Amino acid sequence: MEVTVRGLELRYGSHAAIQDLDLTIPDGESLVLLGQSGCGKTSTMRSIAGLETPTAGTIAIGDRVVFDGAAGKSVPAFRRNVGMVFQSYAVWPHKSVLENVAFPLKMKGASRQQQRTRALEVLETVGLAHLADRGASMLSGGQMQRVALARSMAMAPSVLLLDEPLSNLDARLRDDLRVELRRIQLEKGLTSLYVTHDQQEALALADRIAIMQSGRITQLGTPQSIYRTPASASIASFLGVTNVFPLEDQTHHGLLKVRGHDVALRASRTSASTPASVCLRPEDIRIEEESRTGQDSVNTFSALLEVAVFQGASLRCRLSLLPSGLSLDALVPSEAAAGLAPGSRVRVRVDPDNVLVLPDDVSQPTEQAVAA
Ligand SMILES: Nc1ncnc2c1ncn2[C@@H]1O[C@H](COP(=O)(O)OP(=O)(O)O)[C@@H](O)[C@H]1O
Ligand SMILES: [Mg+2]
Repeated sequence: MEVTVRGLELRYGSHAAIQDLDLTIPDGESLVLLGQSGCGKTSTMRSIAGLETPTAGTIAIGDRVVFDGAAGKSVPAFRRNVGMVFQSYAVWPHKSVLENVAFPLKMKGASRQQQRTRALEVLETVGLAHLADRGASMLSGGQMQRVALARSMAMAPSVLLLDEPLSNLDARLRDDLRVELRRIQLEKGLTSLYVTHDQQEALALADRIAIMQSGRITQLGTPQSIYRTPASASIASFLGVTNVFPLEDQTHHGLLKVRGHDVALRASRTSASTPASVCLRPEDIRIEEESRTGQDSVNTFSALLEVAVFQGASLRCRLSLLPSGLSLDALVPSEAAAGLAPGSRVRVRVDPDNVLVLPDDVSQPTEQAVAA
C-alpha cells in the first residue's frame, strides 16, 4: 500500500532528529532511505511503524491516516499492519523456525492449520522451508535474518520496514541475502522502506533512493540518477565519489579554478551558485600514455601515476597532477591501462560533460528524472 509522510518532525528535547520530511512510497515500490549514522533514518522508520511519536506531521498507510500531529491522532503500532526487520536477530531461540514465523498469526487467532500453511508458504519464499522444524538457535546469522524476514511477511503487511537488516552479517552472506531480498521484493511486489548507511546496498535494493542528511531528505531519485547526478558535493562524497574539490568563487576566462591548486577545468554546465565544488567520477577520467603526441585539448593534464591497483576488469589509479600535485582517483578498464606502470608520466583527460559542478550542500530535495 502507498505510504505518505507529510511535514514530519520529531524532536528529542531541543534536538530535531527529523525536520519537515515529505516522502511518498508508491504501492509496490522499494524505497531506500540512505544516509550517515545519526541522520534520522531509524527515527523515520520508527515513526511510520508507530514506535515513536513525532512532534508534527501526518503519516498515512493506504487511505488510512495513522498519525496526525495536529489532530492528536496516533494509531498504535500493532494496528498499523506493518512488518519490521531489524539489525539484531529478533528470533526466539527456544522456538522452532516454524513457530517463530507463525507467532504473529497465532496472536491474530489463526487456526493451527492456517498458521502452518502460511508459515510454510513464507518460509518457502525465503528459502527455509526445509528447516521449518529446526530449533532457531541452530541457525546461522543469515538464516536467522531470513526467519525474521519470513515472520515480518507472514501477516501480509501493508508495508515492510527494514532497518539495516544485513549489517550484522559477514560480507559474503550480505551479498547473497541482498540479491535474495531484491528477488523477493520484486516477486511479491512488496511496498518497502529499507534503511541503510551502505551505498552499495542502497544501489542494489532500491527502486528509488532518498538521501537523508541531518533529519531531512536532500535528494530523491532512481539509483542511476542519484549516482550519475548527485545534488551536492556532500552527497557525492557520501556516495563514494572520491574526487570532490572546492572551487574558487570566480571563474577565469570561463574556466573553473580548483581552490588552492593551479588547475582549471571546463564544464559543459555550471548552474551551481557559489559556494560550489567540482566532482569528477573516477570512471570518467581517461588516462593515456604521455608519449602520445597531439594537440593539448581542453581538460587535459600531465600527471604522475602514483599507484595502480589491479581489480580484475578494471584498474584503480591514484594520480598526481603536474605540477599542482592535485590528487585524483581514476578507474580505467584493465585493457586500456596496459603498459601503464606506477611512476610513469601520463596524460589525464576529463570530458567537459563529465565535470559536475555542485553546490556544497542542498537543503531541499530534488526529484531526478528517470535516467534513460
Ligand atoms: N531516544 C532518543 N533520545 C534522544 N536522542 C535520540 C534518540 N534516538 C535517536 N536520537 C538522536 O536522533 C538522531 C537520529 O537518530 P537515528 O534516527 O537513530 O539515526 P540513524 O538511524 O540515521 O543512525 C541522532 O542524533 C540520535 O542521537
Ligand atoms: Mg539507525
